[in-house]
Amino acid sequence: MARLARLDLTVLMTQNTQITLVIGGHGKTGRRVAEKLSAQGREVRIGSRSGEPAFDWHEPATWVPALEGVDRVYVTYYPDLAFPGAAEQVREFSKVAVANGARRLVLLSGRGEEAAEVSEENLKASGADWTIVRSSWFNQNFSESFFLEPVLAGEIALPTGDAVEAFVDADDIADVVVAALTDDKHIGKTYELSGPRLLSYSDVAAELSKATGREIKYISVTNEQYRAVLRENDLPEEFADLFTMILDGRNAHLVHGVEEALGRKPKDFSDFAREAAASGVWNV
Ligand SMILES: NC(=O)c1ccc[n+]([C@@H]2O[C@H](COP(=O)([O-])OP(=O)(O)OC[C@H]3O[C@@H](n4cnc5c(N)ncnc54)[C@H](OP(=O)(O)O)[C@@H]3O)[C@@H](O)[C@H]2O)c1
Repeated sequence: MARLARLDLTVLMTQNTQITLVIGGHGKTGRRVAEKLSAQGREVRIGSRSGEPAFDWHEPATWVPALEGVDRVYVTYYPDLAFPGAAEQVREFSKVAVANGARRLVLLSGRGEEAAEVSEENLKASGADWTIVRSSWFNQNFSESFFLEPVLAGEIALPTGDAVEAFVDADDIADVVVAALTDDKHIGKTYELSGPRLLSYSDVAAELSKATGREIKYISVTNEQYRAVLRENDLPEEFADLFTMILDGRNAHLVHGVEEALGRKPKDFSDFAREAAASGVWNV
């Protein structure tokens, strides 16, 4: 009887510690990670202000309830790891996660963002098994996020000039993250992800025009003009600083994390644009 009770307890403990917390699980990469894990039959909890229980980066009291029964976490910070306060929150959250039973942490980081590297180190210091996924800018910014409205309006106005970025697909990022969450061979690795091509925003506008059959223009604005637009829309002005990463050329080369982690090539922007156009998201 005692043996049976012990057995039951073991089964219960195993069941109770197999949940993956996906922070930002309704967002561009988080939603895909959650769907892919669920498709594998894994239990997932969405960590966001609209999750149940709610998780809020700025309300530490919400962290422990969201971590109950969780053994691994996909950590995405919002709005950006390079923003003031992010590194401290990531350090505190990682400690709390480990203290509450999480053994593996996979962090979404930004490629070329020095400030984000402080968060990376803080997460590693937690003692959990870790994987860092440093990503280029997402293709899906144009179909699911802040550049969707400009695409629909036919004008993308940004302070990026002729600078190039190696846009990467959120599905590729999610595949790398799911592999890191589920396969031990990715523990202790830092993957730098890009797509297969460098594109300027004029190139992007041309790709989007071709995919939608409508003219979509790129308009070059100054950083100050862009800051004014962010202010008018009640968005953090720090978003403008992210463009310095594109402008100074630090990310103007391809990196190969998708292939290193998954053994296959990343998706090209043209394929993304064709599929997004077919989904109707850019219909006006
Ligand atoms: N977008 C890019 O091109 C790019 C490139 C490289 C790295 N990144 C990194 O990716 C991360 C996510 O950025 P994203 O723009 O792609 O956003 P996202 O993941 O598409 O969406 C944000 C998610 O975060 C949740 N959220 C917002 N505020 C929150 C809070 N205070 N506490 C908890 N959850 C919150 C939202 O859900 P609720 O509203 O329900 O809370 C939503 O699910 C950032 O750290 C960014 O640096 C982005």
